[in-house]
Amino acid sequence: MTISITQPPQVAWASGQFTNGPLIRKSTRLQNLTHVFMDEKAWLACDPQQIVYDVEMVDSAPIAGALYTGVTHLQPGKVGDEYFMTRGHFHAQREQGEVYYGLRGSGLLLLQDEKGTARLEPVFPGSVHIIPGFTAHRLINTGNDILSALAVWPCAAGHDYAALTQGFNLRVVEEVGRVQLKEYHHD
Ligand code: F6R
Ligand code: MN
Repeated sequence: MTISITQPPQVAWASGQFTNGPLIRKSTRLQNLTHVFMDEKAWLACDPQQIVYDVEMVDSAPIAGALYTGVTHLQPGKVGDEYFMTRGHFHAQREQGEVYYGLRGSGLLLLQDEKGTARLEPVFPGSVHIIPGFTAHRLINTGNDILSALAVWPCAAGHDYAALTQGFNLRVVEEVGRVQLKEYHHD
């Protein structure tokens, strides 16, 4: 009998950096986030090349029942008074959930169900977020450092960005130096 020992991918918990494994990296820049931020004028005035977030994920074969693992590194910053955030999405297979784990930095996880009801969970090193099916999700960086969160989700889930063209109903802005929540409805 031959017993094989294979080195697994490794993540540094404090930084979210992977140090081993077949990895895929994707950067999302301000120019990729059309109509994501409320203040269109402020968005146009920003450097389009500026990276808002990077996702580094283990390149797993998307076979039935398999899971993906990835880390999102969300930069600190704002467009107008709205904090940097991920685009956010529903899963294409709506019933599929996901788990996010906060690694570094501080921010919020915005969750919105199909009726449009939104809620927030604080994200911090060690936070665990059970995202149920039928729930759109977005990370928001309200801190001064990079917000990194590890995610595990079913390969079968897929992503549906189009269903959120009206955006999320809740926005997170800085007003007089404080984090403020705003209800927002696209017209
Ligand atoms: C996967 C997942 C995360 C996000 C990542 C970037 O289902 O939720 O890995 O894909 O945080 O956000 P989006 O995909 O909304 O640009
Ligand atoms: Mn997801």
